[in-house]
Amino acid sequence: MPEGRGLELSLEAVSKEYVLGGRTIPVLNEAVATIEAGEVVAVVGKSGSGKSTLLQLLGLLDQPTGGRILYDGRDLRSQRPDVIEDFRNRYVGFVFQFHHLLPEFTATENVMMPALIAGWSMGDARTRAISLLERVGLGPRLDHAPGELSGGEQQRVALARALSLSPSLVLADEPTGNLDPRTASDIHELLIELNQEIGTTLLVATHNMALARMLPRTLTLQDGGLVPWTEEEGA
Ligand SMILES: Nc1ncnc2c1ncn2[C@@H]1O[C@H](COP(=O)(O)OP(=O)(O)OP(=O)(O)O)[C@@H](O)[C@H]1O
Ligand SMILES: [Mg+2]
Repeated sequence: MPEGRGLELSLEAVSKEYVLGGRTIPVLNEAVATIEAGEVVAVVGKSGSGKSTLLQLLGLLDQPTGGRILYDGRDLRSQRPDVIEDFRNRYVGFVFQFHHLLPEFTATENVMMPALIAGWSMGDARTRAISLLERVGLGPRLDHAPGELSGGEQQRVALARALSLSPSLVLADEPTGNLDPRTASDIHELLIELNQEIGTTLLVATHNMALARMLPRTLTLQDGGLVPWTEEEGA
């Protein structure tokens, strides 16, 4: 897969139910969507509607209970776990609301991690990490541990880490949910800018309608299905 090209996603009747204590909890019910390579899509929907579930399925962290998801037309389900793991490490970048930075490592070391896992040399991984951290405005904070950074700075480190291998697919789950509006808005702009630079496919699950409106396409999760968002149904 060429560098800097987004992945095309096809969701074919994707269902997901959880089983907990003998009860079945249906979350996705034959959801259908096509997301073009390089497209930027907001996923909105009430709390509990399945946004995080959907992102986890798209990021191959979990499996649908029905239907399939195609990546550039390929169904990866039947692949060996290590092949799926390689694919995820190489092509998918996650930005979580709570950024899961490793507390005992510096910003630079956190951002180096995906490249090191992918087998890059220490020097190359460090050069790449520093250039990304400079890109997100953290050049003066390279050696700070997460506990020595503000919330917005930590989120920018998480973003740099998610982008370290120029992923073909970036999945952002409430990436700015816990930030002040000004910092949130800076990060939204940065996400969109980086999408344009790298050409990655970008999905952002959010409750923030101001963010959703900035993005070219919005899908709503409703009754387990994905429907185009309209102003009347929103908020
Ligand atoms: N591992 C699990 N086992 C059982 N039920 C689960 C599990 N994970 C999620 N759920 C249930 O699935 C539903 C969808 O959860 P999900 O986290 O995808 O919602 P969401 O749209 O991301 O919500 P929010 O906006 O609050 O983040 C919820 O009702 C949740 O309780
Ligand atoms: Mg969620």
